[in-house]
Amino acid sequence: MSVSLVILAAGLGSRMNSDLPKVLHPLGGAPLLAHALRTGAQLSPERVVVVTGHGAEAVAKAARAEDPEVHIAHQAEQLGTAHAVAQAREALGGFKGDAVILYGDTPFVRIETLEAMREARERHAVVVLGFEAADPGRYGRLVMDGEQLERIVEYKDATEADRAITLCNSGVVCADAMTLFELIDGVGNENAAGEFYLTDIVAIARQKGLSVGAVRCDEAETLGINTRAELAAAEAAFQQRMRAEAFENGVNLIAPETIHFALDTVIGRDAVVGPNVVFGPGVTVETDATIRAFCHLEGCHVSRGATVGPFARLRPDAYLAEHAHVGNFVEIKNANIEEGAKVNHLTYIGDADVGEGTNIGAGTITCNYDGVFKHRTVIGKNAFIGSNTMLVAPVKVGDRAMTGSGSVITQDVPAEALAIARARQDNKPGLAVRLMDRLKALKASKKKEG
Ligand code: UD1
Ligand code: CA
Repeated sequence: MSVSLVILAAGLGSRMNSDLPKVLHPLGGAPLLAHALRTGAQLSPERVVVVTGHGAEAVAKAARAEDPEVHIAHQAEQLGTAHAVAQAREALGGFKGDAVILYGDTPFVRIETLEAMREARERHAVVVLGFEAADPGRYGRLVMDGEQLERIVEYKDATEADRAITLCNSGVVCADAMTLFELIDGVGNENAAGEFYLTDIVAIARQKGLSVGAVRCDEAETLGINTRAELAAAEAAFQQRMRAEAFENGVNLIAPETIHFALDTVIGRDAVVGPNVVFGPGVTVETDATIRAFCHLEGCHVSRGATVGPFARLRPDAYLAEHAHVGNFVEIKNANIEEGAKVNHLTYIGDADVGEGTNIGAGTITCNYDGVFKHRTVIGKNAFIGSNTMLVAPVKVGDRAMTGSGSVITQDVPAEALAIARARQDNKPGLAVRLMDRLKALKASKKKEG
């Protein structure tokens, strides 16, 4: 049975007190919305519909960045969760199969939980995801009768007796898509909030004699983000989960509580990550690589056996081949550091290729930017770049070539040549001492005067 996703993301999230739509606030370096999309994607959905409202354009753009095939349904006015789902009807275009409804602001729902809901669909027309709340607060309450979910009462409409129920509604629903829209057609807005509640489909389904079930999950999974404090708490929970996953995958994290991951960070077995390392989006680290303390990586790849840091920065499109070394206070951007090449100290390598086995001396800089255009530096294999070389791009240095320390290289260096491009040294015999004597005499005469 095929499945489609409907992700509700129209809300303003006024309690974030932000110009940014709530679902675009980042968690693990990715917008909240991306988390729901990724989890949902694991169900291999036939269609994915994101319902947008506040900040629709930006939300649609973020959704497309995650899934170019995504359908966008616009909800011009936020009239309630049932109304939001109804907007997806056209985009689903008569889809036959299950619809799974997720919230864009609820990032932690596990794929196993969604699979359990789909399995429960074999017994029920509609399946709702519930959880036992430590503090049920303002959540909707699930009113059960044995295995049957009879109705959901929203907090605003609940009696004292309803409010005593601790089994709460997460908002996640799984139902046959055609049935879902039929049920939504029957939802009205005569309630305390004057909204079209999706939760009303439960009682309507029961009136029609349909079976409705509840699947229970851990409260941590249903954590929705409404405030910046909740976002910060979610970030902490997310990082905790990523660290646990890394340990399971055989990664050696030193001082794990100081290491920060992004949603898509991939680290191989037996890789070592030192304290205070930050992984931005798009990082892959192969097995046996070492990332030493205080490194910042984003959009880069570190191959097997390579070493990075301490205090290194790998920016987007930095590629380190096997056994490459990048040392302290080195920044690499849009550059390939080939196998066994070394860039060990105080260096900027941007828009460059550094060939196999090449050594880049301390303080080297690829001058890649002329103020308007970026230019490439291409260095061959087993070359030796002397300390403090300025490589003014576009420029090429051939295989086994060298540059003298302090050179400003503006022309290509042929293979096996030594390029020296600096002022010739001129030694003045005895001048240092004579100069010093003169300065001391000057200081003494000034003291006498004053
Ligand atoms: C909803 C549920 C409640 C549940 C709680 C869990 C309803 C009526 N209530 O309440 O039972 O316990 O979630 O967090 O469903 N949205 C739209 N368009 C709208 C309204 C909402 O896209 O017109 C989106 C919001 O952006 C949000 C989600 O739907 O992502 C839930 O809406 P929200 O207003 O937060 O619902 P709650 O009142 O929290
Ligand atoms: Ca909410």
